[in-house]
Amino acid sequence: MAEIKNLLVVGLGLIGGSVALAARKAGFAERYLGVDLAQDERQGALTLGVVDEVSEHLEDLAPQADLIVLAVPVLAMEPVLQALKPHLKTDAILTDVGSCKAVIAEAAERVFGRQPANFILGHPIAGAERSGVAAAQVDLFRNRKVILTPTATNSPQALDQVRRLWKLAGAEVLEMDIRQHDEVLARTSHLPHLLAFSLVDTLARRDERLDIFRYAAGGFRDFTRVAASDPVMWRDIFLANREATLGALDEFLEGVQRLRDAVEHRDAEELVSTFTHAKSARDYFTALLNETGYQTMQNQKINFVTQPGGGPVQGRIRVPGDKSISHRSIMLGALAEGITQVKGFLEGEDALATLQTFRDLGVLIEGPHNGEVTIHGVGINGLKAPQDPLYLGNSGTSMRLLSGLLAAQSFDCELTGDASLSKRPMGRVADPLRLMGAEIETAEGGRPPLKIKGGQPLKGIHYDLPMASAQVKSCLLLAGLWAEGETSVTEPAPTRDHTERMLQGFGYPVKKDGATASLVGGGQLTACDIDIPADISSATFFMVAAAITPGSDLTLEHVGINPTRDGVINILRLMGADLELSNQREVGGEPVADIRVRYQPLKGIDIPEDQVPLAIDEFPALFIAAACAEGITRLRGAEELRVKESDRIQVMADGLQALGVDCTVLDDGIDIQGKGEAEAVFTTARLQCHHDHRIAMSFAVAGLRASGSITIEDCATVNTSFPGFAELASSVGMKLESERPAGRA
Ligand code: S3P
Repeated sequence: MAEIKNLLVVGLGLIGGSVALAARKAGFAERYLGVDLAQDERQGALTLGVVDEVSEHLEDLAPQADLIVLAVPVLAMEPVLQALKPHLKTDAILTDVGSCKAVIAEAAERVFGRQPANFILGHPIAGAERSGVAAAQVDLFRNRKVILTPTATNSPQALDQVRRLWKLAGAEVLEMDIRQHDEVLARTSHLPHLLAFSLVDTLARRDERLDIFRYAAGGFRDFTRVAASDPVMWRDIFLANREATLGALDEFLEGVQRLRDAVEHRDAEELVSTFTHAKSARDYFTALLNETGYQTMQNQKINFVTQPGGGPVQGRIRVPGDKSISHRSIMLGALAEGITQVKGFLEGEDALATLQTFRDLGVLIEGPHNGEVTIHGVGINGLKAPQDPLYLGNSGTSMRLLSGLLAAQSFDCELTGDASLSKRPMGRVADPLRLMGAEIETAEGGRPPLKIKGGQPLKGIHYDLPMASAQVKSCLLLAGLWAEGETSVTEPAPTRDHTERMLQGFGYPVKKDGATASLVGGGQLTACDIDIPADISSATFFMVAAAITPGSDLTLEHVGINPTRDGVINILRLMGADLELSNQREVGGEPVADIRVRYQPLKGIDIPEDQVPLAIDEFPALFIAAACAEGITRLRGAEELRVKESDRIQVMADGLQALGVDCTVLDDGIDIQGKGEAEAVFTTARLQCHHDHRIAMSFAVAGLRASGSITIEDCATVNTSFPGFAELASSVGMKLESERPAGRA
């Protein structure tokens, strides 16, 4: 069912024609009418099926029109309104697509005495440098922004109708006031057009034969694309938005003058500082333009394929930055007063999901660039409401920590994730947050998405964690920053304490009393510099690789060895591995060391239960070590492994069995029958990693002791924690390739 009978487009150019095409495709009106002074545009509009009926004269078609879109140059609006006035149906709705709004509002006042209630001013931020109805495109507005500038006297029904037209055309509709619109557009659209026109004109004047353009490649073409736009339309825009464009132009001229001086005086520092600032602003802008902001590689299909004969594993390497600390650096940096500089940031998708989330919450973050990130903190109460649901990809840490932080904000928000994250339990954070006074809705079974209602005052609680989880502990401590009184959390076993350490680094007092961590809400965080160590969880794949491959001697540099994370070192040593720690030091409140691993035969052990939370992410790789050890390795008290990115007990057991290793699965652990010094421990197989990065990397390591090739399917999630894993693995002697399966995206 069409929404209206007759839609009239006045001005059958690129924009007017595209509005008609988009509205027609969506079935918005029963009939489409067009008025244009130019015979060829009218003819073109009919031939191309843009409209059903055309005329040169407004009076022929205006009386039938229910909604009229004015798509004429800005300075032609007034005469067009004048001509329309006597022929308008009483309840006809008017809208326009002009690039300047104040001048059109003033024209309407002059013509009608005041801006009519049914005249909704609008501006689609879309276009192309080509003009005329022949250039019209049905999708021109899809995923583009349309700014409406309604006034208090506008009719809500008319506003609604115009909004619907644009939404049906696929656009995102925003509202602004008229003055703000003109100021913003002067800077983001009008000034760049003026510069492009000016640059091309200046160059062309110097070279009448236009020879120079033969040599003008990428940069020139990109910069001047818009200089091919319609001159009359742009003449009108500059005449109409004169004041705001002059302001923008003056600022720009000052900037150019500064650069001119810098070039003249060989001021390298000024040049590099201007360019660096511009580059990070542009990178930030690119991230904003990115639709989901943060985009995963997960729809790119990548398989890992190992070949036999890899190793020994040798060299000195540094694995990427710690994932847990990277998440927290963004969160606390964003909430701090001042600028936080981060080094060693993990440029993996999980940490990038957190980074993008804070951009969506209004925080300016520069980078990451070679692991460096600059966070312009907004202070404890400075976050802004996000426009859309916050998409956290595969990252459980982001979702659980953010749920605490966001439960305390004044605005509503929704947290979503990919297929793996959408299956993970969130009741463990939602339940205690509710006890603090938060309002959180989860999907069935306490799964994502989480819908958090803002404006709920939180009160501090004491909470005894039912499971050893740093994520739940951190979630509650973060919520506690805004809660009234003290929030304290007691854990059944020690879990990673990066949140507590980092809060203290930001000057926020955290009390530790045995198994209890507590803080009092209402304080401030002060920006600080953070040097993130290499991630011990990522280093683990290489520790195990060297520990199982005869002849290996590998050093991992600058690895974080926080005592709440060092279970893997203790377990491997108990298994007989030769691990040597050197260069131990403290960096930004976290202990680090270089770890040298030399091959030595391993033996099966009963893994001490107190080591389980300290090595919780390392078990998939440790299972590979267990398969290469002499005798049985038994793991108990590890039921948490079943709710990680995959059910790590079952998925690893399935893979090990497919590779010819005997194992017995228990609810909270596994027994693995190691093959010790056998020539080949693993057979050839094709395995699934169930979108779990650590499973994928663990089986890749198994390739070092396999008799044939191992293929691990769909390994793109490795990018969540360890971008560049396959390349680094090859560089130390592993035979591992990434393959794009044929016929898949
Ligand atoms: C993490 C805590 C652990 C760990 C995860 C990261 C963190 O999860 O498995 O990879 O950064 O706090 P749990 O708290 O669920 O054990």
